[in-house]
Amino acid sequence: MTEPDARFQAFLEAVRRAPIIPVLTIERPAQAAPLARALAAGGIAAIEITLRRPGALEAIAAAAEAAPDLLVGAGTVRDRDQLESAAAAGARFAVSPGATPALLDAARGWAQPFLPGVASASEVMAALAQGFRRLKFFPAAPLGGPTALKALAAPFPEVGFCPTGGITRDTAADYLRLDGVFCLGGSWIAPEKLIEAEAWSEIEGLARDGLEALKVPS
Ligand code: 3PG
Repeated sequence: MTEPDARFQAFLEAVRRAPIIPVLTIERPAQAAPLARALAAGGIAAIEITLRRPGALEAIAAAAEAAPDLLVGAGTVRDRDQLESAAAAGARFAVSPGATPALLDAARGWAQPFLPGVASASEVMAALAQGFRRLKFFPAAPLGGPTALKALAAPFPEVGFCPTGGITRDTAADYLRLDGVFCLGGSWIAPEKLIEAEAWSEIEGLARDGLEALKVPS
């Protein structure tokens, strides 16, 4: 991978420390603070709060305040308005499931890292042409998992991929050991059902266990 721009420094440091980014869908913003603290206690360094519920922006602000050492980003960002709202809520990075020229254009002017979603070689090339070299590979498992990502990444040695979608505790290491994969995301660390049940210590345990599973020698 070529040298990233300075915007990525804090993000890269975080995912180097803990390469799993929990993808979080939070129904009630009041759950964001205890959830963020539990994930930080479990060793997580960056979280993605998806903009899939009405209180997501409030949740981003609350998580950032409750766990200052955690890098709190926005996920499921689909357009310029959402990117701007996420930035205003304090998101330190943003992720999208796909990319449009308008979204890439908005993200280029943002002071924080943005990872557009790609699912094909043409989409990687379109993102590269716009200056984006750190990309989300989505949805990773249905697209063919580590085998597909290995083949897709081969022609693009300058790209860093963050696969998400269908990754589990038991498949995470297979992605992370691929050349070009620098982190990965998934909801298995904090599934909606456990957030809804406010099962904070269980979530902390899943975070710790997920990170531990990546240390298994290959
Ligand atoms: C995402 O937005 O990255 C996915 O919804 C996360 O996928 P998962 O729920 O299959 O982990």
